[in-house]
Amino acid sequence: MRKLCKTIVLVGMMGAGKTSVGRRLATALGVAFRDADAEIETAAGCSISEIFERFGEPAFRAGERKVISRLLREAPHVLATGGGAFMDPETRGHIQDTAISVWLRANVDLLLERVKRKDNRPLLRNTDSRTALVRLIAEREPVYAQADIIVESDEGPHDTVVKRIISALQAKGELPNDGAT
Ligand code: S3P
Repeated sequence: MRKLCKTIVLVGMMGAGKTSVGRRLATALGVAFRDADAEIETAAGCSISEIFERFGEPAFRAGERKVISRLLREAPHVLATGGGAFMDPETRGHIQDTAISVWLRANVDLLLERVKRKDNRPLLRNTDSRTALVRLIAEREPVYAQADIIVESDEGPHDTVVKRIISALQAKGELPNDGAT
């Protein structure tokens, strides 16, 4: 089996399934899984909500940039990023230069349904979640569309999304046809 040559970076909105799909994709490919948000929390010693509250969004973005840059230097793996990471020109450039980016595209109803389950997203606090998501989608989708691979993330099982990503990687020649088995 040929090894994965580049890290696969999952990008997309909050609730698109980056962490759940990423974990399963990493298992299917036999590589490590990293979650940028979790790594930021470990590095800061507090939660993302606390970072936003105590230091503000710019400080969070600076930490995010640093952590993702470090993770991109690790051996090829699957990396789930927070929804705003790919919007940062420096981080996006770094991903485009060194990794394969995959946008998990999902519609607003599905995103809303998923983000409602947890109250851990500072950008959706004290505001109407649908309005905030619609605004972020309009702002971000043209940028997410620059990803190397675009895959639909829908209500179905996460494993279906994993299969779509693997097929797209194979079609691009980034993975041999037996790469996931
Ligand atoms: C953010 C998404 C979150 C987290 C932070 C900011 C965003 O990650 O990084 O709350 O700007 O969309 P998820 O996309 O994993 O929820």
